[in-house]
Amino acid sequence: MNILLLGSGGREAALAWKISSSPLCDKLYIAPGNGGTGSFGTNIDASPLDFEAIGRIIAEKAIDMVVVGNEDPLVAGIVDHFKALDAAKPLFVGPEKAGAMLEASKDHAKRFMARHGIPTAAYRTFTPETIDEGYAFLETLTPPYVLKADGLAAGKGVIIPETLAEAKATLAEMLGGKFGAASSHVVIEEFLKGIECSVFALTDGHGGYRLLPVAKDYKRIGEGDTGLNTGGMGAVSPVVFADAEFMKKVDERIVRPTVEGLLKDGTDYRGFIFFGLIKVGNEPMVIEYNVRMGDPETEAVMLRVASDLVELMAAAAKGDLGNLPLDIDPRAAATVMAVSGGYPESYPKGLEITGVPAPTETTVVFHAGTRLDGPALVTSGGRVLAVSSYGATPAEALAASYATLDAIRFDGMYFRRDIGQDLLALEK
Ligand code: AMP
Ligand code: GLY
Repeated sequence: MNILLLGSGGREAALAWKISSSPLCDKLYIAPGNGGTGSFGTNIDASPLDFEAIGRIIAEKAIDMVVVGNEDPLVAGIVDHFKALDAAKPLFVGPEKAGAMLEASKDHAKRFMARHGIPTAAYRTFTPETIDEGYAFLETLTPPYVLKADGLAAGKGVIIPETLAEAKATLAEMLGGKFGAASSHVVIEEFLKGIECSVFALTDGHGGYRLLPVAKDYKRIGEGDTGLNTGGMGAVSPVVFADAEFMKKVDERIVRPTVEGLLKDGTDYRGFIFFGLIKVGNEPMVIEYNVRMGDPETEAVMLRVASDLVELMAAAAKGDLGNLPLDIDPRAAATVMAVSGGYPESYPKGLEITGVPAPTETTVVFHAGTRLDGPALVTSGGRVLAVSSYGATPAEALAASYATLDAIRFDGMYFRRDIGQDLLALEK
């Protein structure tokens, strides 16, 4: 089949790598792709939000299946748009807008979880009209306080103030337009203390689903989880604390009720669901849903998907996963992200990158914020390269990624040297 993958990050590079390895994939196109995705398929310079341009690619390249990498086109209704058109319809991996609301509105997601009995932090939602009730609700909570912009805020919409005074000021700022329309509603919730992990399911909209390998990501810029939040500085899979007993609870209390809840609500969800989970004591709770794979988790998770992902995605998109297995490679995988100096604040672009090796049996360097400038590879974003490796253990996989990073250079390059160290400490 001819496949069109939408997106340009490290996640899409990892998906492109995996898709291109399938005997079912004839031609792979990536729109717009990045400086590395061209080695797995053909980049086409089009925005995933430009549905007309995407429609032309679908027609001209006889696309059989579209895989939507990031949430924006899903929230903008790309699946609904093409379903409604009177034209040849490719398969879509990704939910309709109604399903994408699980990520697009935190209030919607909370109401969904409450309706279907899925464990999550207690919460209430406030608007500018109910700000006084918001202040009163904050007074009933113990610090720290969790305030979330209801809508999409480029991953920056969650603020966790330490004091009641700061929390009240933050609520006023958010409702006052700190994140524009995204924070016209603010969800305030109970702070949960625990360790987080990312669980991914591929669902077929008819109750069938498969779990992908579990991963943990590292969001802060600084070692020891300090400093500003980023899009993600690394990922490790498997996750030592997400053992069989924990995953059974995750499946029974969270994944299955979510898939069945979507069915009950009449939402035809075919695609990936990302469960941002926290282990509180021994119990899993949902921090958030995303309607796509995680980045940089995908760069580690794809290494461990042993089955043909194209076959699985096509079956899910057709509405029936049937008995297809999703086999997991027993090896560990680890991703370390090399970022631009200054990221996640301002950083330079266009710096030449050297020392990126071709994929080996052990390591694949997935490009994220890169582009080709003639023959030269240059930086074009904050997160530049996702260096992903296999290992018999997470420690071995990490060592392989760090060894590869030693040879890679660009001015100002930075990476965290402590990815996975918390998990290694738990193993001891
Ligand atoms: P989100 O954008 O919803 O993933 O939230 C960003 C981060 O804020 C999460 O990864 C958690 O580390 C933290 N967070 C969100 N909600 C809570 C909560 N209820 N309790 C503790 N930490 C939270
Ligand atoms: N790694 C977190 C995310 O993709 O949202």
